[in-house]
Amino acid sequence: MLASTPRRVTVVEVGPRDGLQNERVEIATDVKVRFIDALTSAGLPVIEATSFVSAKSIPQLADADAVLRTVRRAPGVRYPVLVPNERGLERALAAGATAIAVFTAASDEFNRRNINASIDESIDRFVPVLKRAKADGIWTRGYISMCFGSPFDEQIAPERVVEVARRLDALGVDEISVGDTIGVATPNQVVELTALLTKDIDIGRVAMHFHDTRGTALANVLAGLECGISIFDSSAAGLGGCPYAPGASGNLATEDLIYMLDGMGIQTGVSLDGVVTASTLIAQALDHPPTSKYLQAATSG
Ligand code: HMG
Ligand code: MG
Repeated sequence: MLASTPRRVTVVEVGPRDGLQNERVEIATDVKVRFIDALTSAGLPVIEATSFVSAKSIPQLADADAVLRTVRRAPGVRYPVLVPNERGLERALAAGATAIAVFTAASDEFNRRNINASIDESIDRFVPVLKRAKADGIWTRGYISMCFGSPFDEQIAPERVVEVARRLDALGVDEISVGDTIGVATPNQVVELTALLTKDIDIGRVAMHFHDTRGTALANVLAGLECGISIFDSSAAGLGGCPYAPGASGNLATEDLIYMLDGMGIQTGVSLDGVVTASTLIAQALDHPPTSKYLQAATSG
């Protein structure tokens, strides 16, 4: 391992949000709650629980209030929720949120399709949201989607991503998650973007969010690790995708990530068996087999 490789990594579980927002079948609120509780039992330090967005945009998460109110919250574990606007913040606070994530993109066209706002407009929207969140002591994350490529743009220049990250940073977000929304990134891009981004932003506040559409997610994690990135998003069972990004498939599976990190001797505090239990629980509610390689290996024969 390179000397720059962190010895400890924070795994951010996004399955209950990024995963379930994109499932076809209706999943009962109590199943979502049991899934999140199982992820808590597995030792995940951060579990993105749901989204306080328009139910017309994401009907799958229309029960956000009930989910957040009902889950068991373990001490020391963070349960962020997605918030697109002030209305979302009001709802999230009323349901007891203590951590939120705002989300924009490096692609204007994607952002319009996703949240009906250009990048500039979305940043303007976040100003009062983040101001209020900060005043209330709420932890905040800013997502940037389409950082490595987009179906709506010829290419995404790393400088564009850095510019958006700087603007989120200026609004005081605690963490910035760099999204490969449609799973097109390759490790050289991760190295190039990380080098540029961390000139301005402390590397300890940068997370990488890889979808595994083309099978490059773990290779991208390794590239990120070697650059010193220590926060990675993943999704139990490999659930996931964005309904407004054609071709977006599941996130990197949490089991696959933990298996690799365990093998490399990198601490996460997460039990691989515990994640398998959570994934098995949610997989029973889906209409397709999970994509996680580790889960397939662990449950075959
Ligand atoms: P809009 O239509 O421009 O907003 O949508 P609006 O203010 O005109 O409101 C439209 C309707 O939504 C109204 O209801 C509002 O009350 C309601 P109506 O009067 O028509 O009945 N509304 C809300 N309801 C509940 N909670 C709210 C809320 N706000 C408005 N917070 C809006 C703009 C942002 C609301 C909409 O486009 C939206 O909700 N988008 C969410 C899209 C989304 O969640 N996408 C997936 C997450 S992003 C992602 O997956 C990428 C990521 O994983 C990283 C990566 O992979 O790159 C994070
Ligand atoms: Mg995503």
